[in-house]
Amino acid sequence: MAVILGFALLFASISLATSPNSTTPTSTVSGSTQTSSNGAFVTSMELSVEDLWDMYVGPVSTFSINTTVEATLVPSSSLIPPPTLYYPPFPTGQQIALQSKNESWKFPKDFWYGVASAAYQVEGAVKDEGRGPSIWDVLTHRVTNFVAHNDTGDIADNHYYMYKQDIARIAAMGIKAYSFSISWSRILPFGSGEVNEEALKHYDDLIDTCLQYNVIPMVTLYHWDMPLFLQNTYGGWLSDRIIDDFTEYARIVFTRWSSKVSHWFTLNEPIVFCNFYPLPANTFKATSIPPKQQPFVCGHNALLAHASAYHVGKSLNSSLTISFKNNGGYKIPLTDSAADREATQRAYDFNEGWFANPLFLTGDYPTSMQPFLSTFLPPFTAAQKAALNGSADIFAHDAYTSSFYSAPTDGGIPACTANASHPLYPACYNTTSVYATGWNIGPAADPAAAWLNWATDWVPAFLRHVQATWKPRGGIAVSEFGFAEPFEALKSRPEDVAFDPVRAAYYRAYLEGVLMAVGEGVRVVGCLAWSIFDNLEWSSGYTVKFGVQYVNLTTQERFYKASFFEYVNMFNTYQET
Ligand code: BGC
Repeated sequence: MAVILGFALLFASISLATSPNSTTPTSTVSGSTQTSSNGAFVTSMELSVEDLWDMYVGPVSTFSINTTVEATLVPSSSLIPPPTLYYPPFPTGQQIALQSKNESWKFPKDFWYGVASAAYQVEGAVKDEGRGPSIWDVLTHRVTNFVAHNDTGDIADNHYYMYKQDIARIAAMGIKAYSFSISWSRILPFGSGEVNEEALKHYDDLIDTCLQYNVIPMVTLYHWDMPLFLQNTYGGWLSDRIIDDFTEYARIVFTRWSSKVSHWFTLNEPIVFCNFYPLPANTFKATSIPPKQQPFVCGHNALLAHASAYHVGKSLNSSLTISFKNNGGYKIPLTDSAADREATQRAYDFNEGWFANPLFLTGDYPTSMQPFLSTFLPPFTAAQKAALNGSADIFAHDAYTSSFYSAPTDGGIPACTANASHPLYPACYNTTSVYATGWNIGPAADPAAAWLNWATDWVPAFLRHVQATWKPRGGIAVSEFGFAEPFEALKSRPEDVAFDPVRAAYYRAYLEGVLMAVGEGVRVVGCLAWSIFDNLEWSSGYTVKFGVQYVNLTTQERFYKASFFEYVNMFNTYQET
C-alpha cells in the first residue's frame, strides 16, 4: 500500500494546507485521478506529517529523557587535564603542563575557536515537536545496511533535549563558538509551506542559551538532511524548484535570527552531498537524469540556492558573515611529472573549485569542468553569474587531511577525458594516501574512515594555497577538522575512550600548522573542531568516533576526552589577549 501511495505522490502536483481538525501541518495533493505525462496514474490525497512517517519511515526509537533538561554546573573535577599526552624522555613522576610555548607563534585576538555538530547527527527526537522526516530518516530505516549496523539518528546524542547542558559543558572548557545546523524539516515539516512554530521556539532557546554562556552561535542551514517531501516531490537538489524552497527556508531562518546570529553557513559541503546522488534505487522519486550527471545537476542548483539565500541574508542584515562550507584536503602531485601536476589541478577543479570558482573568482565553473558540464547544464546567465560571484564572505573550509594525485595510468588524462565510459570520467584523476615510496602520508585514522590520515604537515601549504587561489575577502575559516581515533568504538570504559592520544596529537599538530600559516601572513579567522561529541557518523553509524567528548549512548552521559583539553590548550597558550 505504501509503495502504491508513494508512487502516486511522486507524480502529483502538491499544495500545502492545514487539516480542518488539527493544527498539524498536512500536505494536499491536489487534483483528481489523472494520468501524468509519462503515463503513470496519479491521484489526490491529503497527508499529515504523521502519515509521512508512517508511510516512508515506520516506527522510531525514543529515549527516556524527552523534555528539555536544565543545565547543572560542570563539576571542577571534570575539568582536570589528562596526565602528559606526549612522553618526556624520563619519567617526571608528576603531571606536567599540556604544552610549552613557541614564542614566535600566535592566534590573533579575534580568532574564534569552537566545536561543531549537525542536526541529524546529534539531535535525536526525530519525530518530536512536529519534525517532518528527512531523507536520512528513510536511508537509516528503510535501506538495509545503508548505515553500519543499521544505526539510526532516532536518539543519537539526544541533543534536542540536552543542549543546555551540552552548551554549559563546552563553555566550561572555554570554547568560544558553537556551530550547529538547523533541521529544515523541523522548521518546515514538508520542506516548504507551513512553518512549525515549536521548532522555531526550540532553536530560539538553543541560540539564547549559547548567548547566555558567551558562546558565539554559528548556524548552518543545510547539513544533508533534505526534507523527504521535497525529495519525493521533485527530486530534492536534482530540480531547480529547490532554489526557491531553499531561499524561502533561508528567509524564515534569517528573519528570525539575523539579529542574534552573526555567522552563517548556507550549505555544508555540497561536494559531498551532491556526490550522494544517485540515491539508492527505488527509495525516492525516480529520475531520468543519468547517474554521472546527477552530482553536477545537484551542484548547479546548490550554487544558485546558496547565492539566492546569501543575498536574502545580506539584505536583512548586511553585517552578517555568510558563506557555504567547502570540503577537501591538500592535494599533492604523486610525482613531479606534468601529467600528475595536471591531475592535481583537475582534482582541485572538480572538488574545491567546483563551488569556489563560481563564488570567489569568476561566477562560473573551472575551465576544466566545462567541456563535460556544457553537454547537459544550461550556462549560467549573466544575472546568475553576478549573483554567484562574491556571494561568500569568508572561505569556510572543512579540511581534514591531505592526499596524492596522479593521472590515470591507461592513456593518461587525454584518453580519459575523451572516453565518457572511463571509470574516472569526467574528473580523470587518481588519488592515494600512499607516497611513491610506499609509506602512508601519515598515520591512518580508524579503518572505517579510510579517507582520513593524520597528514597535518601540509596544513600551512594548504592554507597558503586557498588564500592565493581564491583570495577570500574575509579570510579563511577551518570550519571543520578532526580525527577518528583508531578503534575507539571497541573501547567501552569511559576512561579508556577518553584517553585519545592520536586525536590529541592531530589537533596539536594541525593547529601548529595554522599558527605557521598565520605567521606567514595567511588570514585565518577561526576554526571549528569536528565534533562537539561522538555522533552518528552517517553511513558508518556509531562505529566511527570524531568527538572531543565521549557519549555513553545507553545513559547519554558525556565525558571530556584528552583531545578536548589539548584543543583548548592551544588557544590558552597561543591566543593574544
Ligand atoms: C561532515 C560531517 C562528518 C565529518 C566526518 C564532514 O565532512 O560535515 O558531517 O561527520 O565530515 O566524516
